[in-house]
Amino acid sequence: MAVPIVLLISGPNLTLLGERQPEIYGTLTLADHVETARQAAVEHGLGFEHLQSEAESDLVRAIHDARGRVAAIVINAGALTHYGWSIHDALAAFAGPVVELHLSNPEAREPWRRQSVIAPVADGTIAGFGGLGYRLAIDAAADLIQGS
Ligand code: DQA
Repeated sequence: MAVPIVLLISGPNLTLLGERQPEIYGTLTLADHVETARQAAVEHGLGFEHLQSEAESDLVRAIHDARGRVAAIVINAGALTHYGWSIHDALAAFAGPVVELHLSNPEAREPWRRQSVIAPVADGTIAGFGGLGYRLAIDAAADLIQGS
């Protein structure tokens, strides 16, 4: 049987991790977090893919491409979390588990960050645990895949 794949999607500005507001996002780079997620996926016996883009349309296309092919999606959509309704709609058309992920805790930040358009179409959200969140998100995705 084919190995189930977890797709990690990273939105805009996450390529600047390590340099960008380290007091909020820490000093690890996106490559570090992707490696953490990849390792966790391997430990769960899952396949792993990662897609990063600054463009909303690329994220939408990646979600379309995941339909019927990928078992679960973990997504840190960056600021698109708060207004990217096309990502919401694409995720609503994806049948597998979806885990929303953030390094920081948007609930504890500026009011405009308190709305997530991803949350209504996600199975759950992991936020505020910094880089540990990448491992927790893959753990959650693995658990959801097993239960589905
Ligand atoms: C973020 C939180 C968002 O509000 C912000 O726009 C980001 C990163 C996080 O991982 O904490 O770019 O998604």
